[in-house]
This record gives sequence, C-alpha cells and structure tokens, in this order.
Amino acid sequence: MPDLKINKVHDESRQGESYGSFVLDSPTHTKKFYIESYGCQMNFADSEIVASILQDSGFGATRNFEEADLILLNTCSIREKAEQTVRKRLTEFRKLKQGKAGTLIGVLGCMAERLKSKFLEEEKLVDIVVGPDAYRTLPGLIIEAESGQKAVNVLLSREETYADISPIRLNSNGVTAFVSIMRGCNNMCAFCVVPFTRGRERSRDADSIVKECTDLFEQGYREVTLLGQNVDSYYSTNSLSTGSGQGEAPVTFAKLLANVASIDPQLRIRFSTSHPKDITDEVLLTMAKHENICKNIHLPVQSGSTRILQLMNRTYTREWYMAKIERIREIMPDCGISSDIISGFCTETDQDHRDTLALMEFSNYDFSYMFFYSERPGTLAARRYTDDIPEEIKKERLDEIVKLQNRLSRESNKRDIGKTFKVLIEGDSKKSSDDWMGRSSQNKVVVFAKDDLNYRKGDYVMVNVHECTGATLIGKII
Ligand code: SAH
Ligand code: SF4
Ligand code: F3S
Repeated sequence: MPDLKINKVHDESRQGESYGSFVLDSPTHTKKFYIESYGCQMNFADSEIVASILQDSGFGATRNFEEADLILLNTCSIREKAEQTVRKRLTEFRKLKQGKAGTLIGVLGCMAERLKSKFLEEEKLVDIVVGPDAYRTLPGLIIEAESGQKAVNVLLSREETYADISPIRLNSNGVTAFVSIMRGCNNMCAFCVVPFTRGRERSRDADSIVKECTDLFEQGYREVTLLGQNVDSYYSTNSLSTGSGQGEAPVTFAKLLANVASIDPQLRIRFSTSHPKDITDEVLLTMAKHENICKNIHLPVQSGSTRILQLMNRTYTREWYMAKIERIREIMPDCGISSDIISGFCTETDQDHRDTLALMEFSNYDFSYMFFYSERPGTLAARRYTDDIPEEIKKERLDEIVKLQNRLSRESNKRDIGKTFKVLIEGDSKKSSDDWMGRSSQNKVVVFAKDDLNYRKGDYVMVNVHECTGATLIGKII
C-alpha cells in the first residue's frame, strides 16, 4: 500500500446525523479523489472500502477538495435534516465546478439509493450516483462520467459484503477501527428508511471478519467495533476454520464474538447495534466470559409505550424491553447501556411520552441518541399513518427527553468517582497535549494527565476517577 498521510477534519458521532470528512493524501497518483462521509458508522466504514477500490484503480486521495478530480459524498437519508445537509454541501461544490468544469461529483450511500436517477434531475451538477451495494462498479462509472455521460448504479444485492476488500483506514487514530460484519436490514421498523436504502440483510463470512480483525491487531490496532444494523441476527453458514477439527456448525453472533475475542486478550471488542428482540442470553454470557469484550450495549428502545412500539413495528413490548435490561444487569452488573429514542412518532400522546421518560429512568441509560420523528418517504409509517404530532410538541418532548438523559448521564458519571477503570489510550485529549484521552470498557471517555510516564497510544492503563463533567471522566493513572 502506498504511503498515505491520513488526516482528520472533524469528528463524527456514533450514529444518525453525524457529519465528518475523511481525507487522506497520497502523492503518488495523478488523479485525485476527495471523500466526505455522513450518517452512521456503517457509512464511514463503507467510505474505507470505496477508498480501497479507488486506490486500486489509480486514484490517490487528497484532503483538499479544490484539487480533487473526483469529489464524493457518502450520504445519509435517516432524517430529513441529514439530506438537507448534503444538499447544502452540494451547492458549495457547484461553485467550485463553475470554475473547474472537469471535476466530477459523485453521490454515494443511502441518499443515492433512495433518490436514484432522480438525483441527477434534482441536482444537475452531480455526475455519478452509486448505491451502497454497487461500489465495485465505481471505476467503470467514473470512466463513463469522464466521457460526459451521467453514470448511475443503484442495484441492491443479496450477496455483496465486500468481504475480500481490505479497507483503507481513513481518519484513523491507529488504535480503534470499525469492521462491518453484515449489511442491510430485514426489520421493517415503520419509521425507518434503512431497509430501503441498504437492502436485504446478509452476513459477511466469519473467516474474513476474524482475518481482518487479526490483521488490524498485527498492525497495532487495539479495539475493533463490529458493525451491523442488527448484529444479533448475524448468521453465517461458513463455519470458522479454527483448526480444531470441530463440526461445521453455523456461526451465530455469540460465536463470532467469542472468536474475535480469542484473537488476543489485548484486543478489545465492541459492537453496534443490538436489537432488543434479538439479543440473546448466549451473547450476554459470552460478553461476561471474555474480559476483552467491552461491557457496553447499545440497545435502542425508540419508545417506552407498548402501543407506540407496536405502531413502530419494533416487535417487542415495554415489558419485554425491561426484562432485557434486567437480564443485562443480572449477568453484567457493571455493563454500560445506551439507547436511541424518538419523540413525537405518529399518534404519540402525552401519556406515551411519559412512558418513554419512565422507561429511561428504569433503564438508567448512561447515554442516548435522541431525535424527533422525521417522516421518510416510502416507509411503512409514511404510507400508513399521518405524521400528526405538531413540530413544537415533538421538540418540547425531545427537550424533556434530552434533559432527563443529561441528568442520568451526569449521575452515572458521578457514580464512577472513586472507581478505577482500565482505559485504552486513543490519543491526546482534545484540550491539552499534556493529557491522554481514552475509553473505559463501558465506553466512557476518560481524560488523565500523562504524568511523564512512558505510555503510548494503544496502551492500557489503570485510571482512578476523581472528577467528572457531563460527558467525561477525569482521573489519574495509578
Ligand atoms: N439499526 C439501528 C439504528 C439505525 S438508525 C437500530 O435498529 O437500532 C439510528 C437511529 O435513528 C434509530 O435507532 C432511530 O432512533 C433513529 N431514526 C431512524 N429513523 C428515524 C426517523 N424517521 N426519524 C427520527 N429518527 C429516526
Ligand atoms: Fe431501521 Fe429498524 Fe433496521 Fe434499525 S432495525 S435499521 S431502525 S429497520
Ligand atoms: Fe444513514 Fe444509511 Fe446509516 S440512512 S444512518 S447512512 S444506513
């Protein structure tokens, strides 16, 4: 692989509307591409696949879009606001294209899939539209576009997992990496556009996942996050070649976790996202058994009202969800739990909203991603229900949800004062190069003085917490 200088422009959060650009420089190629990613971690991971495909077809990367021959936006459709952000960015690129006509502009990802060739009618400056399962055809589409044609491929696949493509780690701290284990989603949550933009669920073969994680560990990475829209339904009939001569049983998510955890005790494993209906005891027990599987579960509840959950087609009840939380606490008392919550879904009453607040208290989330409902064209909810909660009420309820979560997060952090955590050092803290920043197993950010000790990025240290803010634990190496 050529020597790539990788640089980070701004941070992405873990899910939903997060915006960041992945940029890297390569001096060796004549043609240059620039790629910017929006949306969930899966999209960020896909951009790393795209970078690999482009590099193999002779494109080098640049961090400066003004010198790029090809500008790519990997887009998200999850909420209307996410799409608006992309359109705004496209108008900025329009100005650039007026001065530099040869520049090609490509739209990738979920918005490309949702709008298909309509994108080319709506946004005249776009030359290439490629859906999430068609990235292998990107080099051919670029050639088409170079000859002045508009190029589109939004075919979804039942098989594509890009298992054989070695991602180029963009925006990397060299310590933590994302690894896609599956694509698509077979759930039909009524509010959600993902099944339409990402297609049918399929699992990547287990051997290629274990190999990618092993390679990462050998390159010095110390944490992998296994990614899928619904990791608990991971299922591969390609049994793992453990060399133990054991039977050819299919690989479940629990088994995959155990195998990745066995690569090396120094490699930490995280995963996202779990679905309350699918997370099994076997997964919880596997987590408890392996010290290096991080004690943190992202278990989106969406709503605390059984009636709303039914309308959302989440297929569990409030009681089912509560039982899952109790089971997690029983098996792993120290497990961090986080959630996604939507306010103002169709027909939501004040009582439904209060049920959500009460369930948040019950679950005692350490952290949540919170949104107000945004109707997406083509979804079950858009076809069947009226988006009848006024925006002010959606926002008022969201505000209450956010306030409650802030309190729960603060309380959760306060409970950690006096405790000692094993922290994986990810790099300098944002505020000072005299401090390290890392995460606890529970996924909390921990900041602590370097103290002239000879630790480096990628090392584990024991940190005693003596202070906290709403979002960070502050401690001292012991
Ligand atoms: N696969 C994951 C999450 C996918 S999208 C899961 O099943 O949990 C991330 C989050 O965005 C969702 O959990 C949901 O809370 C939120 N979301 C999805 N569609 C939305 C919509 N139409 N309006 C508001 N929030 C939405
Ligand atoms: Fe969307 Fe539901 Fe699938 Fe998550 S599980 S991606 S919310 S349809
Ligand atoms: Fe957005 Fe697509 Fe992810 S809609 S949240 S980028 S799967």
